[in-house]
Amino acid sequence: MKRIIIAIDGPAASGKSTAAKHLARKLRYLYLDTGAMYRACALAAKRSEIDIDDEDALKVLMENIQVTIQYSEQGNITLLDSQDVSVAIREPEISLLASAISAKAVVRTKMVELQREMSKMGGVILDGRDIGTVVFPQAELKFFMIAPVETRAKRRFLELQDKGLNPIYEDVLHEMKERDKADSSRALAPLVPASDAIQIDNGQLSIEAQVAELYRHYQKRMAEL
Ligand code: CDP
Repeated sequence: MKRIIIAIDGPAASGKSTAAKHLARKLRYLYLDTGAMYRACALAAKRSEIDIDDEDALKVLMENIQVTIQYSEQGNITLLDSQDVSVAIREPEISLLASAISAKAVVRTKMVELQREMSKMGGVILDGRDIGTVVFPQAELKFFMIAPVETRAKRRFLELQDKGLNPIYEDVLHEMKERDKADSSRALAPLVPASDAIQIDNGQLSIEAQVAELYRHYQKRMAEL
């Protein structure tokens, strides 16, 4: 059976990664969380204390950075220069820094190159902002996930609480709106649905219903190929 590329794009906490993870398990595909890669870049910039507007410093950082997504039964692990940073990259401070650093050309060029390299065998689900538009415009199946910003902020709030943090809902909502604005309005690879993406509003859908919906589209697409 042909192993295709599936692109899932959408704004923060729109349920992309949950859906992608479940669908990847069902199809025995590789799941690549491209947001985690931009988060790792942000963490690297923070740790080396560089100003992300300093183009030369950012260029050097990108020439030397090693970001890898490693598969594990418990979920994917994000490695930054061989160190497991899966937890550190989820800090709210890193979310905003990831959004800022991901607007830089030198960062995107490097990450997109890695994403294409890691996906070259096919059988991959990638989630992000620009997968269907820039990274894999030829992907056989594309989804664009949406949900109301309040629903997304609530999800992120609960996720942060689950991690033992003590978030304030208004702050989470504010951060989400800021990031939506920055991601959608930037010049480079802005968050926009590809013209051939299937839009899924999951505000009212359970995870199971959402995965079932994606799977239905997958089967339909496979029958056409
Ligand atoms: O998990 P969440 O939806 O909060 O965000 P993420 O997918 O981990 O992405 C973090 C940030 O990286 C986003 O706000 C985007 O600015 C950026 N990003 C991007 O520019 N392109 C991608 N393909 C994925 C993420």
